[in-house]
Amino acid sequence: MVFSLSFITRLAGLLAVSLLTAAPARAQPAEVPAQSLGLVPLPRQVKAYAATYALPQKISLYAVSKDELNVAGLLKEMLAPLGKIVTLTTNRQQAQITLLTAPTSHPEGYQLVVDKAGVRITAAGGAGLFYGSQTLLQLLPSRPTATTRVPYVRITDEPAFRWRGGMLDVCRHFFSVGFVKKYIDFLAAYKLNTFHWHLTDDQGWRIEIKKYPKLTQISAFRKETLLGAQQLFKSPADFKYDGQPYGGFYTQAQIREVVAYAARRYITIVPEIEMPGHSVAVLAAYPELACRPGPYETWTKWGVNEDIVCPTEPTIHFFEDVLTEVTTLFPGKYVHIGGDEAPKTRWQESAAVQELMKREGLADVEKVQGWFNRRIEAFLESKGKKLIGWDEILEGGITPGATIMSWRGQKAGIEAARHGNDVVMAPSGYLYLDAGQNPVPHSPNEPLMIGGYLPLAKIYSYNPLPAELTPEQQKHILGPQANLWTEYITTPEKAEYMLFPRLLAVAEVAWTPAAGKSYADFLPRMSQQFARLDAKKINYRVPEPLGLDSTSLVRQGGKAVVTLRSLVPGSQIRYTLDGKLPDETTELYSKPLAVPLNRQLTLRAVTIAPNGRKSPPAEILIK
Ligand code: ACM
Repeated sequence: MVFSLSFITRLAGLLAVSLLTAAPARAQPAEVPAQSLGLVPLPRQVKAYAATYALPQKISLYAVSKDELNVAGLLKEMLAPLGKIVTLTTNRQQAQITLLTAPTSHPEGYQLVVDKAGVRITAAGGAGLFYGSQTLLQLLPSRPTATTRVPYVRITDEPAFRWRGGMLDVCRHFFSVGFVKKYIDFLAAYKLNTFHWHLTDDQGWRIEIKKYPKLTQISAFRKETLLGAQQLFKSPADFKYDGQPYGGFYTQAQIREVVAYAARRYITIVPEIEMPGHSVAVLAAYPELACRPGPYETWTKWGVNEDIVCPTEPTIHFFEDVLTEVTTLFPGKYVHIGGDEAPKTRWQESAAVQELMKREGLADVEKVQGWFNRRIEAFLESKGKKLIGWDEILEGGITPGATIMSWRGQKAGIEAARHGNDVVMAPSGYLYLDAGQNPVPHSPNEPLMIGGYLPLAKIYSYNPLPAELTPEQQKHILGPQANLWTEYITTPEKAEYMLFPRLLAVAEVAWTPAAGKSYADFLPRMSQQFARLDAKKINYRVPEPLGLDSTSLVRQGGKAVVTLRSLVPGSQIRYTLDGKLPDETTELYSKPLAVPLNRQLTLRAVTIAPNGRKSPPAEILIK
């Protein structure tokens, strides 16, 4: 039998194809553990392969639709610090990076594929394309390199929660538009999508309201600020002040600029206008809104102030006017009305409030707050907005449309979800990033802060879906939010110190379903982020060495064996056993330490990051 040449060629071709399908492992690069990619937050599904795609210095990027073009613009900016020059193309064949719009299972989901054809990000909309771009960025080196090799991956991803929030208090201390944008960048880099902007409080009103110019002439400033940690003083008689006038506010033009900046990064801003509590700065300018005559002044210390606005018609009209301007500035659905920590002392004493209670049939002063809130809520609804407030608003009664931000633990959030109200979980014990990061209370090795202890592991352990709720009730949990109150956070550097690396744990709580989370898996992935934080010059807190706790200590043969580990790649651990503070000049840790148990010793150790910055010392008493 004679075979024609063409038949043989075809047979060979078929054979090759069948070989490929029978043994894809040979044709495809081998799969490798995805953990090595160091992605935070952990995507839903990641496949990584032992092959790389060389991303050239000049990148052609394919993008056509409005959202694709928006994300293309952001990618161009994000890739510039890596020395990449991005130009747009409408020729898909020529593109190294392709942005495509196609249905995905979640409105914020995306698929990211890197293979020999290059980088492809597919998503249903701009948010997904943006998150895919953030993931891509984490696959690239943190600094410019001669050749940029991107690992082959196939990532399919979507968030666990639709509200992934971060709050910044700009009242206790004011932060510039530049830092607010940076804060938004921090959220965006880790796929958080909601910026809660705490704009008014006792210590300063920070948003220009055209109808009430005294808010920015008077309420935005205080005459001085308390020095030191208030809770450490025995009595107010011991308080000392700095004597320096302090203040600031954002013009409406600046607010619009920040709103646009956030929207471009698929972040919604929730403005907070506090009422009826935390409002003495308002009374400083408009004392007629108080229950009793003033004068009042913008507060110079911290805590809960009994001087709150009186729930009268002029007060309601004032807030309606303010909210009229606020709702035109912020396009998002939610307006936060505060509602927390509103002592009712002044209301109890007020004839006007007693009269209101009689007229409206309100049994107690808490119900007065509920009545006040419903008036405000009806007004917000007339503007097409939804009310959200701190969990205290439950106490006066809320409508089915109100959303609760649960901060005094989860209890109020659970109760609200059971009643069918939507809930954002922000329990202070897990998500208040102003709390300390050192097991030693008010450690002299930490900057001045409010106190408490909220380590990374505790944040990471948080599950916003309480087991007490049924699956149907759990649907009312919109998601988690971390809050940064700034009584003691005076500068951007200090804000960064409190935020990082803890914000990375927050991001994973918000993005990755609880069933997919593992702290042991998170730590090495988080470690790979430090170089990225360094490249962005973020003043993160260098974590102290691990292993200085009694559970890590191994006793054998009259010795305690201590094994230390640093979370920062390329760092050194330095230690002392003589009570001195460890630094660059003390012993370098290179292998597990065997410490004789014949006398009591304190082992102290620090991490020294590659950039030279040190962790606070950690220590263990060995006896
Ligand atoms: C709050 O922390 N007072 C909401």
